[in-house]
Amino acid sequence: MGYRLACELSHQTKTTFEFLSSIFYLPFKPMNKFFITTPIYYVNDVPHIGHAYTTILADVLTRFHRAAGDEVFFITGVDEHGQKVLQAAQKRGVFPQQHCDELAPRFENLWKKLNIGNDDFIRTTEARHTKVVQTVLQQIYDKKDGDIYVDEYEGWYSVAEERFITETEMASGQFRDVKQIKERNYFFKMSRYQKKLIEYIESHSEFIQPLHRANEILGFLKQPLGDLCISRPKSRMSWGIELPFDKEYVTYVWFDALVNYISVPGYSVDQKKFDKWWPADLHLIGKDILTTHSVYWTTMLFSLGLELPKTIFAHGWWLTGDTKMSKSLGNVINPMDFIEKYGVDAVRYFLMREMVLGADANFTEDAFIKRYNSDLANDFGNLLNRVSGLLGKNHGGLVPTPGAMTPAEEEIVLFGRGLSVNVHGLVAALKIHEAIDETLNLVRLVNKYLESQAPWKLAKTDLPSASRVLYVAAEALRLSAALLKPVMPSKTQTVLDILGAGNSGLTWGELKPGTKLQTHEALFPRIEVEKK
Ligand code: MSP
Repeated sequence: MGYRLACELSHQTKTTFEFLSSIFYLPFKPMNKFFITTPIYYVNDVPHIGHAYTTILADVLTRFHRAAGDEVFFITGVDEHGQKVLQAAQKRGVFPQQHCDELAPRFENLWKKLNIGNDDFIRTTEARHTKVVQTVLQQIYDKKDGDIYVDEYEGWYSVAEERFITETEMASGQFRDVKQIKERNYFFKMSRYQKKLIEYIESHSEFIQPLHRANEILGFLKQPLGDLCISRPKSRMSWGIELPFDKEYVTYVWFDALVNYISVPGYSVDQKKFDKWWPADLHLIGKDILTTHSVYWTTMLFSLGLELPKTIFAHGWWLTGDTKMSKSLGNVINPMDFIEKYGVDAVRYFLMREMVLGADANFTEDAFIKRYNSDLANDFGNLLNRVSGLLGKNHGGLVPTPGAMTPAEEEIVLFGRGLSVNVHGLVAALKIHEAIDETLNLVRLVNKYLESQAPWKLAKTDLPSASRVLYVAAEALRLSAALLKPVMPSKTQTVLDILGAGNSGLTWGELKPGTKLQTHEALFPRIEVEKK
């Protein structure tokens, strides 16, 4: 799938895609490789819906790209160093490594439960990562013109943010857990790259998305960019990766964590693998870590002489009420509770359908139930029930033979033929909620069509017409299941298997007449509000 192409097309009308679909039979020319990353999560607590969201999003994009023929490398992991993790371990009275060893599997297990198909999972305490961090530090330290220097620094330090903050930031009163610190430290000459970074952002509109976030960063870069303190004396905080050029220090947690994006594809260790995958096509992040990615990380890459990721996309927050869901505020929703109650696919569906990428969204059980009942029980699940029920009753449980098309069918077939290209175009433009809704539009159209054609009545007077109607309905069900597969891999596979079309593709008309349908239970039983 051509991510860049679609970014450029994203603001054009849908007819562009319809036009493309009439020229090319299937979505976009394969782009060959697609390297996608999630942030690596702090193991200071168990994962919540906010963490699950980014990982599911990356998985959904991965599956769409694979379906379009791309070779994908999808990585995620956990961030195990730094003050926050150390404090969490101390609070439990265990050594930090033991704490990490206990917490990391909680993330890996949740990803398994959520059907996440990541290709690698990095823990920053693994030697394959720590070695690369040290190589990176040494390479930057050894540069002829020296990008790392030592200095005495006195200032305000925010434990929550894990960084020194400026006087202006201090005066804003927004920072918790702040203390005055005076110490000798190592600094990265970030300021040296300020002009280059501004020019890069201005000339690469796809680099920071959504666009208003790029403007935010450009606004931030109007002020002089300071240098970045990249060390912590072991006497104050020893839980980190040792500086290769000074054993008294460990490196700042962000200078460690960001490097995962190159340590996993093999920087300085496996050149062939690294050349194949780097630069990343998409760094998915939450909006709170935009500065660290678009300023710290990019200037580190400039210093290393490496290409920048093609796109950094900052999504919004999941809120409970009006506040960000976060561990420190004690208002987190545990994804496990919802998975157990409503099933994995429903959770994946809700998260993908409900959040407009880039904006904040509210997570409430009421909103979840409403969405589930309207889209999954009433629209999608109901279409399956009708198709299989009617075919079972009047057509021997077999996929019927399509007949000559009436205008009502033509409308649906036209919609169905353009749908794959539309959906993949919207996904490439990161409009996942619209891509899902577009698929559901086909389902709704067909449900209405069934009501108007009433094949249950037709079966009594005109069986061939009833067959014709039901072929169109069954094929629309198959195609919508195939297009929703990246979002709900398991339930849609069930639908495809029921239709005897388990391995079918994304083109209208692949359903084979004469195929015997399998019996099944209700796919998404309605949630009765009293039961809640
Ligand atoms: N360890 C760093 C990231 C290093 S990446 C090289 C970190 N970890 S985190 O666990 O605090 O957050 C990880 C991600 O979860 C961030 O993208 C953050 O935006 C996201 N979320 C945390 N709470 C969230 C919500 N309530 N809603 C959506 N995403 C949120 O930062």
